Amino acid sequence: MIELIHTSEPGDSNIAARIAQLARESRRGNRAAGLTGLLIFDGWRCCEYLEGEAEALDRRLGLLAADPALGSVTVRHRAPLALPERRFHGWSLSFAEPAGPHSLDALFANLGPACIVHLLALMPWLDSAPGGVGV
Ligand SMILES: Cc1cc2nc3c(=O)[nH]c(=O)nc-3n(C[C@H](O)[C@H](O)[C@H](O)COP(=O)(O)O)c2cc1C
Repeated sequence: MIELIHTSEPGDSNIAARIAQLARESRRGNRAAGLTGLLIFDGWRCCEYLEGEAEALDRRLGLLAADPALGSVTVRHRAPLALPERRFHGWSLSFAEPAGPHSLDALFANLGPACIVHLLALMPWLDSAPGGVGV
């Protein structure tokens, strides 16, 4: 089991209107691929945490990197998941936006395991969008 964090800056001004729906639509593909995770959108930037088998993750990453909707994708962390179970067990793709002054700045400024620390620190400050929670 591998965990991965990637970031992207879509650069498409329509993304804000579409991103929650996109996340909902992504759940089917993630369920089929055995992926679970969380997509965070701060108004213009995206950060996604995904966990699953290496092959499924790499296939998804290839598709995301080729999707013009994302712009350029930066993989910030990729490592074996050193936990007895998934962080997002049962969540094929949760979706949330950071509340108040909390932002994705720290995630965009780091690489490696520090990104997991920043992601976990951000979790209490995430507002779930309508339809954002669930499997
Ligand atoms: C930031 C971002 C993250 C995404 N993450 C996923 C994902 O985890 N799984 C997924 O199936 N699609 C994800 N998508 C959507 C895919 O890029 C793509 O639109 C979707 O797989 C539909 O592709 P299809 O029309 O070829 O079926 C994401 C899109 C964006 C903009």
